[in-house]
Amino acid sequence: MNSPAGVPGPAPVLVFLDPAFDGGRVADATKPQLMATDQGATRGDGVFESLLAVGGQPRKLQAHLNRLAGSAGLLELDLPAEERWRRAIATAISEYRGRHVPGAGDSTDDELVVKLLVTRGVEGAAGPTCWVQASVPGAIGRRQRETGIDVILLDRGYDSEVAERAPWLLMGAKTLSYAVNMAALRYAHARGADDVIFTSADGKVLEGPTSTVLLAHLETADDGAGGVRTLRRLITPQLDSGILPGTSQGALFTAAKAAGWELGYGPLEPRDLYDADAVWLISSIRLLAPVNHIDSREIGTPEQRKQLTAELNALYATIG
Ligand SMILES: Cc1ncc(COP(=O)(O)O)c(C=O)c1O
Repeated sequence: MNSPAGVPGPAPVLVFLDPAFDGGRVADATKPQLMATDQGATRGDGVFESLLAVGGQPRKLQAHLNRLAGSAGLLELDLPAEERWRRAIATAISEYRGRHVPGAGDSTDDELVVKLLVTRGVEGAAGPTCWVQASVPGAIGRRQRETGIDVILLDRGYDSEVAERAPWLLMGAKTLSYAVNMAALRYAHARGADDVIFTSADGKVLEGPTSTVLLAHLETADDGAGGVRTLRRLITPQLDSGILPGTSQGALFTAAKAAGWELGYGPLEPRDLYDADAVWLISSIRLLAPVNHIDSREIGTPEQRKQLTAELNALYATIG
């Protein structure tokens, strides 16, 4: 069932960061709430975050608040204090859970998508428009955690040094201007693929339109005592190549390191993906989506993908 607001599932809960309301102002998501002259609408000028709440608890909240502040800084947007975001998020989650019983038809699990949205505000008025939206995750992303995804490589058209040379492109910010990312996904869907990995004009692996690229390499090595040991390495593209720093990749790397994995940061080229034992697109809502094929080439084997995905899922589950 689609809500009147066009988000899958029941109507989302909206909570505006309104200084007159201590925990934020709950607003009706089935009624218009934004001014048509808001620069978020007229220019896509703003920033956002998407995070997952499980059992009513937001995951990696501090990392998302940090990245929101970083994105806002790049756009020279003034944000409300972190505490106000925390209170509005708590209001949105408890309001949603008060309206909908988890697992009772309108949500298969106790997961919620919590979006933090900031626009430059109404033209001519002072100050940004800020709100929190709580809604149920889409079924497709949840399914893809299990089934995996087929991906195509698409050229983003910028070289991997563009972020430093042209900071006005806001490459490392999570801006509201996701029309290009959504167009890339539609392009992939029209060609029978589920998702995209962007490459740079100089042939480097970048990121997905809504996710970070992660790959695993397993190597057997002499253990120095007449036996063999398996070296396990997790690798992601280097952060200064004009990609968004992923909070999920960051948290998973910390957990993987503690579990004995070696970590690596690009530069990566498409052949590194084809040679990997497993590749994933990782993000806060869909979590780890194992990549079955890239441009029709199989990545690893079904057994390898399954086993490594289970292992990383278990590590990810330890993250707060
Ligand atoms: C372009 C892009 N890269 C990476 C990510 C993954 O970030 P996170 O793990 O913080 O969700 C996202 C998330 O939406 C994204 O939009």
